[in-house]
Amino acid sequence: MKLKGMDLVSIRDLTVPQMNRIMDLAREMVPIAKGKKKSKLLDGRILATLFYEPSTRTKLSFESAMMRLGGRVIGFSDPKSSSVAKGETLADTIRMADSYSDLIVLRYRHEGAARLAADFSEVPVINAGDGAGQHPTQTLLDLFTMREEMGSIKGKHIALLGDLKYGRTVHSLAEALTMFGAELSFISPEGLEMPAETIENVKKMGAEPYITTSVEDVIGDVDILYVTRIQKERFADLAEYKKVAGSFQVNIELLDKAKKSMRVMHPLPRVSEISPEVDSTPHALYFKQAFNGVPVRMALMALIMGAIE
Ligand code: NCD
Repeated sequence: MKLKGMDLVSIRDLTVPQMNRIMDLAREMVPIAKGKKKSKLLDGRILATLFYEPSTRTKLSFESAMMRLGGRVIGFSDPKSSSVAKGETLADTIRMADSYSDLIVLRYRHEGAARLAADFSEVPVINAGDGAGQHPTQTLLDLFTMREEMGSIKGKHIALLGDLKYGRTVHSLAEALTMFGAELSFISPEGLEMPAETIENVKKMGAEPYITTSVEDVIGDVDILYVTRIQKERFADLAEYKKVAGSFQVNIELLDKAKKSMRVMHPLPRVSEISPEVDSTPHALYFKQAFNGVPVRMALMALIMGAIE
């Protein structure tokens, strides 16, 4: 059960009881995340955030979480401003961050980078996105958001829509939702289907995902529509991206066919896959979801650093 000292590379590093523990604690952290209550829980601790790829929410919410708990933050968001620009390897950069901090949060462009970092680091490493691999802390805040909204996840119909091939958030999320007993639909434009490996993993764990290219197929039945951006930066050929860009959009017309209680989630940033007119409807859950990144990351760091059992 204990999380103290552990690396978080893949969502499969966690058990359901551990995820529930993080979510229960996250709920207690909400007033601190909002700045309404003060905390010194991580006083004297240093977090290193090493971001080799762009980030707004993940980096800022980790940093806000650390500071709200009384800790401090070092790191970079532009590797060109670090010795990476001089040719330093990831392994050496990690060795340095390891000796200057108590916890490392890493985002890198290649799959497997976080695992490598964890091997080189004594202090725990949290994967904040490794290429098209995994994004486990996004999954924790997604699960937390769903649980707070619906009471439970078991038996709920969750549809993942968008770039399921390159989108790392949906890789972690599909596996976690299976562990929690959700019913899954995978909806993607042709060519951007969920990788065979993830489908195999969820099937092995007992899920039977419904796979389609059309959101219309399932919209009337879903409880959560989890939308993702087409990951333009991962396409080797821009012409391939252009073929699928703008191929789906969540708008009022689509929402008219959904249950009243259906909620739309998105890890953000969005481009055109959710029309801004959706923002003011009761269906929009994505801004609340983004806020939840702070209390969830507070809970996770407090447990990994052993400040709370
Ligand atoms: C996601 C990511 O970086 O994987 N963003 C995030 O962390 N909230 C999704 C994306 O970039 O589309």
